[in-house]
Order: sequence, then C-alpha cells, then structure tokens
Amino acid sequence: MELHGSSALVTGAASGLGAATARALAAHGVRVTVFDLNEDGAKKVAEEVGGDHVAGDVTDPDHCQRAVDQAAAGTRLRIAVNCAGTGWIGRVIDRQGTPHDLAPFEFIQRLNVIGTFNILTRAAAAIAKTEPLDDDERGVIVNTASVAAFDGQIGQLAYSASKGAVVGMTLPAARDLSVVGIRVVTIAPGLFDTPLLGMLPEEQRRALGDSVLFPKRLGDPARYGELVVHIAQNSYLNAEVIRLDGGIRMPPK
Ligand SMILES: NC(=O)c1ccc[n+]([C@@H]2O[C@H](COP(=O)([O-])OP(=O)(O)OC[C@H]3O[C@@H](n4cnc5c(N)ncnc54)[C@H](O)[C@@H]3O)[C@@H](O)[C@H]2O)c1
Repeated sequence: MELHGSSALVTGAASGLGAATARALAAHGVRVTVFDLNEDGAKKVAEEVGGDHVAGDVTDPDHCQRAVDQAAAGTRLRIAVNCAGTGWIGRVIDRQGTPHDLAPFEFIQRLNVIGTFNILTRAAAAIAKTEPLDDDERGVIVNTASVAAFDGQIGQLAYSASKGAVVGMTLPAARDLSVVGIRVVTIAPGLFDTPLLGMLPEEQRRALGDSVLFPKRLGDPARYGELVVHIAQNSYLNAEVIRLDGGIRMPPK
C-alpha cells in the first residue's frame, strides 16, 4: 500500500511503541493523529511529527469515535495502530492464599482488549468508507499483543489473558474486514526499551536484555515502528500475529 498522503490513527502514541510508530509513519509521508490519555505527551509527539493530537481514553467508545473522526477528516484514513495498553502483576492466589482481585483483572481487560476493540471497530467503519486503492485495498489495522499471549509468566494472569484476546481477535477481524479490503495484523513484542520497562532498576533491565536470544538487549522501539510501516506497505500480510522479540521465549519467571 502506498503510504504517502494517507492518514493514520495511533493510540498510546504519547510514549514508547506508539510514539515510535507515529515517527516511522510520519517519515513515510503519513499524517498521524496521536491519541493518548496523556494530553501533554500526545501534543508533544504530534508537534514533533507534524500531525494532530486527541486526548482521550481508549476504553471510552465516544472518545475513540472522536479520535477516528479527527484522523479521517479531510484525508484518507488508511491505518489504525493500537498501542495503548499496560501490564499488571498478580498471581491467581498470592503467598497468603488470597485470590487475585477482580478489579485489576477487569481494568487490564478493559484497557488492552476493549480499548483495542473500540478502535478496531470504529477505525474499520471509517476506513471502509474510503475509495479503494489498487487491488481493492482500503487500509490496515495493526494491534499490539505481547509474547505474554504465548509465554505468560508467573503473575501475568490478567496481562496474558488480555493479550491472548488481542491475538484471538486477529483472524476473525481480518475475515470480517476482508470484504471491505482492510487487513488486520497483530504484533507480539518481546522486551522493548520503553517507559513501561523504564520503571525497572537498571540492573533488572540489563538482566532482561541478557535473556534475549540475539541480539542480547532490549528492543529499540524504532524496530516496532519499522515493522508497522512494513505491515502497512506489504499488502499480502494479513490475519497474522508476528513476534518481534529477538527470539526470546519467556521462562516461568
Ligand atoms: N514495552 C514492552 O516491552 C512491551 C512488550 C510487549 C507488549 N507491549 C505492549 O505494547 C503497548 C505499548 O507499550 P509501551 O511499552 O509503548 O508502553 P508506554 O507506557 O510507553 O505507552 C503506553 C501509552 O498508552 C497510553 N495509555 C494508557 N492507557 C490509555 C488509555 N486508557 N487511553 C489512551 N491511552 C492510554 C499511555 O498514556 C502511554 O502513553 C502496550 O499494549 C503493551 O502492553 C509492550
């Protein structure tokens, strides 16, 4: 798909993988709408990439509709990328035998699953209204899962459930949207050097980098942005979940 002159909506783009995606798409001539809960951060990235920003919550369908409408206004919305999300640590039962609280489990599903659903559905409706390109293609939606969808570690019950759901949505969404020429691809990142992991002490970050098969380091978010660009350009990539992880297979802990 030719990217130049199209527009994209990227959620969670004030930081980390989303910000790297906004930069990579903008470098290919895409007008990017940066959608994030963090308004200051969203504004900053939008200014940097010469795009727009929308402050809002991906768990709220009205906020998502507003962001999609803004991204689609005056340009052809062809790309939506779901990067808003976060993690949570909690075991099924803790050391005292207390069951996992429902509230954080529910919060993580709302953010990582319902947030993805809200953007997927609303962006698909907007992209479906655009004129098709060559090959009857209209656009692409990229979701972010995690290797935790497959190699969930101790304490990742809520997070793995949410990322497993994102993986599970990929094929049916791609099948549903094939009739309107929209592809759906999910990226399952390994360990990336973003503010999400920046909270960890340096020593732990180094140990995590050492656990990668090759290269032995945390991933640079720019590699994630590059993959999104490739997925958008490569019209034959569809209904797939791609691990981007330096070959890591997460151990139990
Ligand atoms: N960094 C990693 O190693 C890694 C690995 C696997 C998967 N992931 C996934 O990649 C995605 C991005 O992670 P990151 O590392 O870039 O994190 P990050 O914390 O750097 O960025 C996440 C962004 O999402 C925004 N956000 C959070 N809740 C929101 C909401 N309700 N509505 C709108 N925006 C919201 C935050 O403000 C933040 O800007 C997440 O889904 C995460 O689970 C990250």
